[in-house]
Formats: sequence, structure tokens, C-alpha cells
Amino acid sequence: MAAATRLISRLTLVTGGGSGIGRAVCQRFASEGASVVVADISEESANETMGSLSGDLRGQVHMAAVVDVSSKESIKKLVTSIQTHYFQPPSVCVNAAGITQDEFLLSMEEEHFDRVIQVNLKGSFLVTQAVSQALVACGASKGSIITVGSIVGKVGNLGQANYAASKAGVQGLTRTAAKELSRFGIRCNCVLPGFITTPMTDKVPEKVISKLQSLVPLGRLGEPAGQLIRLLVKLNCLFSLHVCYSE
Ligand SMILES: NC(=O)c1ccc[n+]([C@@H]2O[C@H](COP(=O)([O-])OP(=O)(O)OC[C@H]3O[C@@H](n4cnc5c(N)ncnc54)[C@H](O)[C@@H]3O)[C@@H](O)[C@H]2O)c1
Repeated sequence: MAAATRLISRLTLVTGGGSGIGRAVCQRFASEGASVVVADISEESANETMGSLSGDLRGQVHMAAVVDVSSKESIKKLVTSIQTHYFQPPSVCVNAAGITQDEFLLSMEEEHFDRVIQVNLKGSFLVTQAVSQALVACGASKGSIITVGSIVGKVGNLGQANYAASKAGVQGLTRTAAKELSRFGIRCNCVLPGFITTPMTDKVPEKVISKLQSLVPLGRLGEPAGQLIRLLVKLNCLFSLHVCYSE
């Protein structure tokens, strides 16, 4: 099937769409024909992503929106405004919003632990719940929800007790969502990227980056628009719940 016909008429919500992986997801989905809602806590970044999206196909309408995924109220407003704008909930949702607040376990502040869990784990829960509730309420026959975990959630990483715990939680959340939502035709999958060059990894000291690189067979970090995006597109178009968890 031609790439440009695969996602036509799919309305896609991408949280964290203002930067890095989320931005690359927005750009790829738009180029595949989807209408994209770029949602981010930073209005400026969301608008910047929106300005970079292709929209040549008939019926393609993109929208930028501000959301804080750790706030139920903020997500409710977002879903309502999407439904007002498009007369339907998003049938594809990619949860790419995420943060790090790295510190060694011995000195990690409680509020830094809580904030990372609130954005990465609770945020994925709240968005998944709000989007699936909207899909079920309108009687949609199918939907696809993707969460972004991390290899760190499987193997741990120095200085990232909070982040590793949040990403391990995202996997458990997604497995359970997949089991509960399959009867509504909603597929749920979690991708676990390795290390990808984005503003998030820009914060990691050079010394640590070169250590990480040495663990990667290719000897370099991944790119946001690389294989990861191909996997995300496949998850929305080709795979069924029963054959695909991301790992
Ligand atoms: N870069 C990597 O190596 C890597 C590896 C594995 C997983 N991930 C995950 O991929 C996702 C995207 O990361 P990235 O590397 O593109 O980072 P990034 O910092 O470039 O992008 C994250 C985006 O999330 C937004 N955001 C932060 N808090 C938010 C909130 N409360 N509500 C809404 N938006 C919020 C930010 O404004 C930013 O635009 C994250 O979940 C991250 O944990 C990244």
C-alpha cells in the first residue's frame, strides 16, 4: 500500500509533540496523510512543530494545543477541544511527553522522584484513559494508543531511579490497557527506544554519552526520525494487538 494512503483520515494526537521524538512522530504522521494534534506543555514548541508539518492532502487539518499531561483537568480540556474542532476523538494517540530529573539515588529529592512519575507514568495513564474513554463513548470501531517507554525501564541506568521506575511502569500500564481495551477495538503498544539524540539527551554529560555509545552495536545514538518512527507507523497500520508488543 502506498505510504501516503495509509493514514489518510486518521486523526492523531501526539503529546510531547513540540520536540525530539514527538516532533518527528508528528512530521512523519503528517507526511503519511494524518491530521495531527501537536500537544505540548510549551506552546511555542507546539506551534513550531505545527509550522513544520506537511498538509497537502485533502481534509488534512493540523492543530497545536497546550497541555500538561500530569493534570487530569488539562487533558480533559484538550480532548474536549479536539472533539469540538474535529467532531471526533483522535483514533491514534502517541504519548511522547516525558522528562528526566537525574540524580543518584542516595541524594534524589522526593519531589524530583514524584515529578518524573507524574509526567511520565501518570501522564501516560491520564492521556490513555481520556482518549480511550472518548473513543468508547462515541462508539468508534477502532483506535491505537502508543506509549513511549525506554530501554532504561528494563535495565536501569545510573542517576535515573525515578525515570527507570516511571518507564517500567509505562510498560505495565500499556500491557494492562491492551488487555482491557482490545474488546473495544483499541490496540495499545509500548515502544522502548534506546538512546536517541534529542534535547533530552543533550542534557546528558559528554562523558556519559560516550559510555552509552560504546554499548550500542552501531556505535552511535539513534535519530528521532530513524527506525523508531518506522516502528511507530507500523504499529498504527499493520499490526494487531495479538501479535505485537514492542519487545
Ligand atoms: N531521547 C531518548 O534517548 C529517549 C529514549 C527512550 C525514551 N525516550 C522517551 O521519549 C519521549 C520523548 O523524549 P525526547 O527525547 O523527544 O525528549 P524531548 O525533551 O525532546 O521532548 C519531550 C517533550 O515533552 C514535553 N513535555 C514535558 N513535560 C510535559 C508535560 N507535563 N505535558 C506535556 N508535554 C510535556 C516537552 O516540552 C518536550 O517538548 C519521552 O517520553 C522520553 O522519556 C527518549
